[in-house]
Amino acid sequence: MKKVKKAIIPAAGLGTRFLPVTKAMPKEMLPIVDKPTIQYIVEEAIQSGIEDIIIVTGKGKRAIEDHFDNSIELEQNLLEKEKFSLLEEVQASSKIDIHYIRQKEPLGLGHAVWCARKFIGNEPFAVLLGDDIVEAETPGLKQLIDQYEEVGSSVIGVQTVPNKETHRYGIVDPIVQNGRRHEVKNFVEKPAPGTAPSNLAIMGRYVFTPEIFMFLEEQQVGTGGEIQLTDAIQKLNKIQRVFAYDFEGIRHDVGEKFGFIKTTIDFALKNKELKDELMEYLKQVIK
Ligand code: UTP
Repeated sequence: MKKVKKAIIPAAGLGTRFLPVTKAMPKEMLPIVDKPTIQYIVEEAIQSGIEDIIIVTGKGKRAIEDHFDNSIELEQNLLEKEKFSLLEEVQASSKIDIHYIRQKEPLGLGHAVWCARKFIGNEPFAVLLGDDIVEAETPGLKQLIDQYEEVGSSVIGVQTVPNKETHRYGIVDPIVQNGRRHEVKNFVEKPAPGTAPSNLAIMGRYVFTPEIFMFLEEQQVGTGGEIQLTDAIQKLNKIQRVFAYDFEGIRHDVGEKFGFIKTTIDFALKNKELKDELMEYLKQVIK
């Protein structure tokens, strides 16, 4: 069985839920405390054993490429001022070798993944969404890759959501459960309220066999007028088994305002330089 060594990070969406800031700034670059969202995701991919990353970018996303590039002047300045730990942080983001491809129009997540098909070729690969951070002891993607190595089929990361939220996600219709892993009958994109077949929602981490590209190739527009990845997964599941894995850890949706604010507070409370001051401040605000 071929190993999962490549990952796609789609980051070409318009980020309309975050306008106006996303007019000129990629939402994937919004910082959680002091690091852009996309860097947490790149780090998760590397910690999961991924060797090659391709980021799907689009119009107005240049800042992502700049972030992962060398910044000679800044590095020189930090060196002269003997700010060695900051220098190390800055250099860390440019040490990673990242490839880029442009999605010329934001036609949907399925289309963004399809744009990277030539980079992937005929190998299994991972997808990590550019606006979902997973905080877990074993990196979220690594958990899925471990499952892939057991079953040799595509594995989709899921977590349980409350009834009132199922219409916001791709939802799985599970048939057989083996611990945290489920065999799946159907994958449904954003079911109408009250019609979801379960509470297991697709959560921004995937491992695919390359056959998914056959179905993305058809490029049919689905829910919301976009080319949906979930529709292609549903078709793939008809010719190969596709599993859902209820991964351990906290998934933070930083692509919408409330999720972003909560994640910022959570991460700041875990930062030893900020924790005490922030706690004091929050106590005052609550009073
Ligand atoms: P989202 O649907 O959360 O991102 O897609 P969006 O479209 O930017 O957000 P809103 O709804 O307008 O606020 C999940 C991920 O897929 C990428 C996004 O950049 C995000 O990281 N994406 C989405 C693409 O790369 N291309 C697309 O056409 C759509």
